Amino acid sequence: MSVPTRRSAVLSVLTLIGTLAVPIMAAEPAFASGPLRTHAAARGKFIGYAAANGPLSSEAAYRNIAATEFNQVTAENAMKWDATEPSDNNYTFSNADAIVSFAQANNQAIHGHTLVWHSQTPSWVQGLGASAMRTAMQDHISRVVGRYANSVATWDVVNEVFNEDGTFRSSFWYNTLGQSFIADAFRYARAADADAKLCINDYNVEGINAKSTAMYNLVVSLRNQGVPIDCVGFQAHLAVQYGFPNLQANIERFAALGVDVRITELDVRIPLPADSNEITAQNTYYRNVITACNNVARCTGVTIWGFTDKHSWVPGTFPNEGQALIYDANYGVKPAYTAVHDALAGGPPPVDTTPPTTPGTLTASGVTSSSVTLSWGASTDNVAVTGYDILQNGAVRTTVSGTSATVSGLSSSTAYQFAVRARDAAGNTSANSNTVSITTLPGGGGGGCSAVATVQTQWSGGYVIQPVTVTNTGTSQTTSWTVTFTLPSGHAIVGSWNAALTVSGQTVTARNMPYNGTLGPNASTTFGFQVSRPTGSTSVPSGYTCAV
Ligand code: XIL
Repeated sequence: MSVPTRRSAVLSVLTLIGTLAVPIMAAEPAFASGPLRTHAAARGKFIGYAAANGPLSSEAAYRNIAATEFNQVTAENAMKWDATEPSDNNYTFSNADAIVSFAQANNQAIHGHTLVWHSQTPSWVQGLGASAMRTAMQDHISRVVGRYANSVATWDVVNEVFNEDGTFRSSFWYNTLGQSFIADAFRYARAADADAKLCINDYNVEGINAKSTAMYNLVVSLRNQGVPIDCVGFQAHLAVQYGFPNLQANIERFAALGVDVRITELDVRIPLPADSNEITAQNTYYRNVITACNNVARCTGVTIWGFTDKHSWVPGTFPNEGQALIYDANYGVKPAYTAVHDALAGGPPPVDTTPPTTPGTLTASGVTSSSVTLSWGASTDNVAVTGYDILQNGAVRTTVSGTSATVSGLSSSTAYQFAVRARDAAGNTSANSNTVSITTLPGGGGGGCSAVATVQTQWSGGYVIQPVTVTNTGTSQTTSWTVTFTLPSGHAIVGSWNAALTVSGQTVTARNMPYNGTLGPNASTTFGFQVSRPTGSTSVPSGYTCAV
C-alpha cells in the first residue's frame, strides 16, 4: 500500500467525515511554506521592506507582516535629510529611531537611506556656497552615520546622481561642488563608521544601459582612487508596460568589480485598471528579480518599497498607476507574494547542468614513434571550463587544462585515434571534438628494418626457412625487432632458432632473442625455423614485414 500524500490523506479524512459537501482547503504554495524571511535567510540573502512610520505606529496588521515576513528594513523617509536635519544643526531622529528599534526587536538588518540626495533636502542646504555646503554635508553625514554606527549596517551614501544618458545630474550638489561631492561623501561616511557598507543608489539602472554603465564607470574610477565604496543599489521601480530589464547580467558585471549589489526599492506598478495579463506580468517581474538576485552570490538581497498597496508611493507619483506591491490594500497576499515566496523557497540554487561547448577543430602534429602533439580550439561554459579530456581510441587517456598537449608513451608503427572533450566543475562534459587518426613512426629513432626469408630446403611434408635476414635499415641502433609473416593454412611450426615465435591464427610473430635485438644501422642478424605441411602442399610462408 502506498503512503497517502498529504492532500489525499486530508481528502480521505474528509470523505470519512462525510458531512462536508465541498472540502475547504487553503491553496497550497508551490513550494514549502514559510515566511519570506525564512527562505531568504536559507539562501544567505535578505528580503526587506520600506517602513513607513504612520502604519508602523498605528496598524497592527502592518506591524505583524513587517515583523514576520522580512529580515531587513529601509526607512522609506525617516532617515532622509529633511527628516533628520530640517534646519541647520537641528537633528530630529524620532521617526528613524522608531524604525531602528522595531527592526532590532525583530532581528532585521537596517539599511540607511539616504545621506546625499538632491530631493527631500531642505532649502537651507541648497542655498549654501561651496565651502559651507561641503561642511554641512560632512557634518550631516558624521552625525547621522555616527548615531547609527552600531545599528545601521549599510548606507545609501549618494542617491540618483545620474541623468538617463549617463551624464551627471545637474543637482545643487553637482552645480555647487562638482563631481567631487561624491567621493567626499563616501570618505566622510567611512570616517563616521569604519564598518558600514557604503553604497551608491539609483533608478533605471537595473538593465545594461547608458545610465547603469555610467554608474559602473564611476564605481571603477572611485575604487581606483581608493574611495571607500562597497555596494551599488538598483532601485527597481519597475512598470509592467516597459518590459523587464537585463537584470542578472547587469548584477553580474557589477559583482565582477568586487562590489555588492542590492535591489533597494522594488515595486512593479500596473496601469489601472489592471487586467489579468498585467497581473501575470507583475508576478513574473517579481519572480525574475528574486531569481536574478538568487543567482549571483554578490547580490545580497531585495528590498520591496513597502509591501501593501494600502501604503505605496506609486499612486501619488504615477497618475493612474498602482497595485505595485505584494499585499493588497486589505493586507491580503496577492499572486505577487506567491511569486516572491516561491522564487525564494524553490530550493537551493540549481545545479549546473549546462555542458561546455564542443572544442574547436582538433589537429595532430609532431608525430614520433612514441608521441603526438594535439591542439584544439577552446570551449566555453556558462560557469567555467575546468579541463579537457583526451580520448585515445575512445577511452579517456588524460585530462589537461590547456588547449594543446603532447601524448607520449605510444607504441611505434601503431594507428591511434584521438578526440578531446571539455569538462566543467560540475562534471558536465561537452560533445567530442572531431577525431584525428595518426600512425606513429617506426621505432629506433626514425629507423626501420627489413626481413628477407630464404627457403633452405623443402620436402613434401615440410620445409626449413633459413636464413631470415633482419637488417636495421634505419639510422640509429635498435633494441628489439619483430618480424611477422603469414603461415599457409594447415602448416605448423615445429621448431625455430635465434628468434621466439608465437602463432595466432595464420599470423606468426617472431621476436628477437635477448642476444640479437641490438642492431646498429645497416647491421643484420638471422633466424630460422622449420615447418610441417600437409602432404602435397607446395606453399611456403609469405608477407614478411619487420618492425623495430
Ligand atoms: C519616495 C517615498 O516612497 C515617498 O514616500 C516620498 O514622498 C518620496 O520618496 N527613489 C528613492 C526613494 O530613492 O527615496 C523614493 O521614496 C522613491 C524613489
